[in-house]
Amino acid sequence: MAFDNRFIDELKMNINIVDVVGKEVSLKKSGSNHKGLCPFHSEKTPSFMVNEEKQIFNCFGCGEKGDVIRFVQRFYNLSFMDAVDKLCEEYGIKRPDYSGGKRIDYDKYYEINAKAARFFYKNLTGGPNVGYSYLKGRGLTDHTIASFGLGYAPDSWNALTNHLRKERISDADMVKLGLASEGKKGIYDKFRDRVMFPIFSTNGKVIGFGGRAIGDVKPKYLNSPESEIFLKKNNLYALNFTKKDISERDHVIMVEGYMDVISLFQSGVRNVAASLGTALTDNQAKLISRYTKNVVLSYDSDNAGIKAALRGISIMKGQNLNVKVLTVEDGKDPDEFVKKHGREAFERLVKKAVPGTEFRLNALKVGYSFDNDTDVLDYINRVVPVLRDLNPVEQNIYIKKLSDEFGLSESSITAEVHTGGGVQSARPKTASTTANNIRKRDTVSDDRDIRLEMSLLILAVNNTRYLKCFEDDSIVFRSGRSRNILAAMNQLCDDAENGIHSIDLNKIFALLDPDDEEYFRKFTKIIKIGPDDEAFYHECRTAYKINALKDKRLELLQRISVSEKMGSSKETAELGMQLVEINNLIKETMEDNNA
Ligand code: GTP
Ligand code: MN
Repeated sequence: MAFDNRFIDELKMNINIVDVVGKEVSLKKSGSNHKGLCPFHSEKTPSFMVNEEKQIFNCFGCGEKGDVIRFVQRFYNLSFMDAVDKLCEEYGIKRPDYSGGKRIDYDKYYEINAKAARFFYKNLTGGPNVGYSYLKGRGLTDHTIASFGLGYAPDSWNALTNHLRKERISDADMVKLGLASEGKKGIYDKFRDRVMFPIFSTNGKVIGFGGRAIGDVKPKYLNSPESEIFLKKNNLYALNFTKKDISERDHVIMVEGYMDVISLFQSGVRNVAASLGTALTDNQAKLISRYTKNVVLSYDSDNAGIKAALRGISIMKGQNLNVKVLTVEDGKDPDEFVKKHGREAFERLVKKAVPGTEFRLNALKVGYSFDNDTDVLDYINRVVPVLRDLNPVEQNIYIKKLSDEFGLSESSITAEVHTGGGVQSARPKTASTTANNIRKRDTVSDDRDIRLEMSLLILAVNNTRYLKCFEDDSIVFRSGRSRNILAAMNQLCDDAENGIHSIDLNKIFALLDPDDEEYFRKFTKIIKIGPDDEAFYHECRTAYKINALKDKRLELLQRISVSEKMGSSKETAELGMQLVEINNLIKETMEDNNA
């Protein structure tokens, strides 16, 4: 008994050899390989390579090499069957039960499809026909037509079936592959009067077809049904042609249609692929991840396209891929755009693609006008689960962005992300829960800052010209209480007709709500300002600045430790530079104060 090839192919596709070997051998990435000390012979310098793209290992020292199953066999000393069992067990893959099952002759099916593809190609290129005119009309060159093996299925009920019968192909096999359909009087051609796009597996076998109507016929695209050799969820259109460019350029552009792929390819954008008329799947993302970790989704900008992109983002992120979304301007698809504006213009769009998270956050904005607090809080509520999915570095970046955009404190959003209910309820939380949370957290702002803020306010009670200083020195009070007190003081100053030098404390108390009043009263009793207002102000202001810088430094240190863990040396270096800058600023500010 043997496993059939398709199961083995699928098994290997679901498992990454780097993962499997990495559990036993310490590997280091070097170029397109992962390098380590060979587990099969004794050595001091690494000559054992694992190639992620090809999913093989190879030792230049002892010559041992093979695929992931071979590695498991050799490393754990297992038979082929036991190695497969072990991998299935570890990766939770269901092993088909083949007892008594008959083996499927895949090569036979590949060959039948290849015959059909040749037949379609000859029809297209052998003499005048509507298929050829159609493709020419869409701007394809003869070279492109040949490269993709495009063809034409004649307007006939039996052109292909007769041809294949002459080649001794059985009716049953034609039906099985979806080349023919069964009618009352026998089989007939499934594809009629259509331009044919052969669909290849990643290693170049014809596994199915897409057929596009030439006139205004429904369906526009007719695709081969799933078969023994055609599983849509495991394949991507054109990947066999484009995998090299994808890996060299280290990113892939995912589009929706066959024509988008071909048109981009012809224009010189060759790192492209398309799903096969269905939504992206986990397996397709895994397949991509062998060639690159960077994905740019280029879908239609209509509602369906946005939905597809959102789904694509989550699928890609699920396989730890970096994903961005490209928007084609003026509503065209990539095919139309690149034909009109050319390769450079398209590459510029690729450069401008927005990170998946940003795309998600923007998509969530639809339907809000943001002219009231409820909109903002409701939106933040929906954003929080997206933020929870991110790694800490990304989280920090987006929390900052949101805080700037909506004027909320970073700490309040962070608190929402970390605490806002560990269990995700099906219904989103109401806006008011978040509102309460954000307000509550605002008032428990750091003691250190509150004391400073209260000191500054009390200084201004006796010398109102400092109210103006706060603005000039951009001292932004963090605590809600401080802001309330400040607002009351400003109001009293504005109301006073000839300007005032000091404010009556009781008038301030009268304007505050009882909570804030009690709080402020307490501080007026304990804070002593001393004889020199200017010196006191200077001291407070510097302390305020230094505290802010120290917070920034703490955050940077956190981010550095995360980026170190993630092995992102470029980012670590960049953050390190920022840290040096901040440290210098802190030092300067302290020296300024002492001078
Ligand atoms: P044209 O430029 O009009 O040839 O098509 P397109 O490349 O712009 O493709 P479109 O955006 O219309 O559709 C994208 C992909 O979805 C196609 O390449 C097909 O794989 C699939 N698709 C489109 N229409 C149909 C259909 O009617 N039936 C099926 N099964 N798939 C379709
Ligand atoms: Mn199109």
